[in-house]
Formats: sequence, C-alpha cells, structure tokens
Amino acid sequence: MTETFFSGIDPIAFEGRESRNPLAYKWYAADRLVAGKTMAEHLRWAVCYWHSFHWPGTDVFGQGTLPRPWLDRPQDQTAALMKLDAAFDFFTRLGAPYFCWHDVDAAAPADSVTELTENVKRIAEPMAAKMQETGVKLLWGTANLTGHPRYAAGAATNPDPDVFRCAAAQVQCMLETTHQLGGENYVLWGGREGYDTLLNTDLRQELDQYARFLSLVVEHKHKIGFGGTILIEPKPHEPAKHMYDRDAATVIAFLERYDLAGEIKLNIEANHATLAGNSFEHEVAMAIAFDAFGSIDLNRGDPHNGWDTDQFHNDPREMALVLRHILLDGGFKTGGFNFDAKLRRQSVDPEDLFIAHIGGVDVLARGLIHAAELIEDGEIERVTDQRYDGWKTAAGTHMLRGKTSLSDLAAGAGDPRPSSGKQEYLENHINAVI
Ligand code: XUL
Ligand code: CO
Repeated sequence: MTETFFSGIDPIAFEGRESRNPLAYKWYAADRLVAGKTMAEHLRWAVCYWHSFHWPGTDVFGQGTLPRPWLDRPQDQTAALMKLDAAFDFFTRLGAPYFCWHDVDAAAPADSVTELTENVKRIAEPMAAKMQETGVKLLWGTANLTGHPRYAAGAATNPDPDVFRCAAAQVQCMLETTHQLGGENYVLWGGREGYDTLLNTDLRQELDQYARFLSLVVEHKHKIGFGGTILIEPKPHEPAKHMYDRDAATVIAFLERYDLAGEIKLNIEANHATLAGNSFEHEVAMAIAFDAFGSIDLNRGDPHNGWDTDQFHNDPREMALVLRHILLDGGFKTGGFNFDAKLRRQSVDPEDLFIAHIGGVDVLARGLIHAAELIEDGEIERVTDQRYDGWKTAAGTHMLRGKTSLSDLAAGAGDPRPSSGKQEYLENHINAVI
C-alpha cells in the first residue's frame, strides 16, 4: 500500500454499541435491514468536498489551521489531482456511498468563467475514473455563485446582465458535468440572491430575474436529458443580509408564483432552518406537506449564537423525529443526507475528519432505528389521526368539500370545548421509545 494522507486509518468497520473504538461505527451497519430496506438504502449519505478537502480551517479572524498538503502548494491541476486522490481515499476508508461538490472545490482555480469551465472538465475525467474504481457515487453537484467578486451583488439577481451570463455559464457546465457523472440531483443555493439594502434594490425586478434563471436551468435539464432533481437550498441570511430563499415556505410560494413548483424541490439544511427561526423538523415537515421535499444538508448550529457554524449533527432524538417524517413520506426519492458540516479549527488530526463523520453517520443510523420503532409503535400517528376525527364525519367532509357557505357554518356554530392535545403524553412516549 502506498503512503497517503489518510493511510494511518484502516477502513471503518461496524463494531456495535459496546465498542469504544472511536474509529468504528457503533450504530451504522450499511447492510442492516430497518423497515424493509438497508440502512445504506435509507440514508443515502454523502461527504461534501468543500468543508472536508477544500477548506483549510480559516475563519474571518484567522488563517487555516488544518494540515491539508494539497492546499499547501500552487493551486494548479497537480494540486487538484492530489486533492481528488485524498478525497476518494477518505470516501473509501469511511465507506461513504456518495459525495457532493461545487465546481470550485475540485477544479483548479481560475479567474474567468471560461477558464473555470475548462478546469472543471479537466478534473471531471479523473473524477469519473475514481468513481468507477471505488463505486462512490455523486449525490449532487453545484456551482459556486458566491465567492468570485463578480457575484458581490448576486448571480441571477445581479443588476448587471453580464453577471447573469456568467452564472448561466457556470451552472450549465456543472449541470452537464453532474449529468455526465451520473449525479442524482443538482443543487442551487442562492447565497447572494438577496439584498443588503432596500435603498438600492428593485425587489420585483430581482425576483423576476431569479425565476427566469431557474426556468432556464429547468429547460436545460430537460434539453440534456438529466433525470435528476433540481433542488433549491433555503437559507435566510449570511452572506446576504436577506436572501430570497428564506425558508421552505418562502421558496414554495416563490416556485408556485412562477410555475416552477413541479420542477424544483428543496434541499433542507438543518442549520439554515434554525437560522430562519424554524426547527429542522419543521422545515422537513413543511417541504413534505407541499410535496416539495428533496434532500438534506445535515449539520447543526450552536444554540448560543446565530452563525452558520456547520457543526456535525449530534442529536439522535431530533434525527429520529426528522426521519419519522421522511419514512412516513416513503423515504428519499433521489435525495439523501449530505454532511454539509465542517470540523472545528482545532481538529487538526487526520483522524478527526473520520471521527466527525462516524459520529454523524451513527446519529443517522440511530435516528433511523428509533424512527422505525416509533412508526412501528404507531402511537403518535394514532393520537394525531384521532385529533381530526371530527373532520371525518359527514358534516366535516361536507364542510371541507366546499358545499357549505360561510353563513351556513355560522348558523350551526355551537360552544365547543378544547380536548387534550396530549403534547406531554407524546413527549413522554417518545422518550420511552428512544
Ligand atoms: C452554504 C451552504 C452551501 C450549499 C451548497 O451555507 O450550505 O454549501 O450547501 O452551495
Ligand atoms: Co448546504
């Protein structure tokens, strides 16, 4: 075996709950059956390229802290290939079924869009070979439309149509590359599709531009025969003061208004949900209720600050509640769980990257087992269903079908009393099952 950055780490195996080996799965056994499917089939999890291989541990106040040899040299094609080797070596040792990437994460850097799209093509070929060799698949690809100075005032929503063209070129390139690599989704995160001040912003114009851009992306998807799902990733702010894709409900309303609802679904990110003042569970449930659920970017914030800290998710109870909705909805179609999470800056050992992902995957597996147990038990669904019993009566269905007028209803109004919502009962029930 040749020496590689991660060669000190043996492939990660399942050792079970009793194990105290930090480099082993305690809950995740890829082939274990849960509710009729294997854990791997349910979870469809992915490692992201950007936080794990392209980020050196910088923050707004400090330089990179993480040893990443491929970043410590001129950023050319040779460095891009070193990074590719390290990434696939990591995926393989971890047993990751999928990965996700932006154009700028893997391709050699470029100033012009033309040069960037050439560099993307130059890395896509060896990437395809790595995928073939290792069996690791692409959950989704995306274009970075936030980093380059040209996008300071937005990409699709930029007041300058020439910037709109650059965004079109980057997205066309990554949509086609994702398609060529057999990717299962294409993600659009509108990081700078928003505004910093209304003093200089024409909201109606920018929303029209954004919708136009999305409809061009959808049109191109069909033109090239890409069978995957186009996903928007809601986030309320950071980097823009206010982003148009604020949260699930906002994006759904926007898609409905511009007739894009059937074509675009949502990639819900846990920490973006909390930044918007919603819970992660709320965002997933809302997307499902509108048939707009697509995929998940998994991470968490810190409850004591309002930043996008992108930490690894570590709450099995929350995961069980989220997975309960996903299982009841029939599971992921083309989506999955992408670890959009990064290490803390002091986690400088190569093994830290493994430990972080192992923890995240184990939380998913544990959440899955508990979600399946909750559903098997059926008490939450039974209590919820019973709360709506009144709507199942002849009078109730009559009211819902719209055969009654407002004054018919007013004439029949009586004096109903509240019945128990059984919230504490259900909270206790969950803690008994989990
Ligand atoms: C930023 C974020 C992005 C998207 C992809 O907050 O989550 O990494 O997931 O562009
Ligand atoms: Co994300």
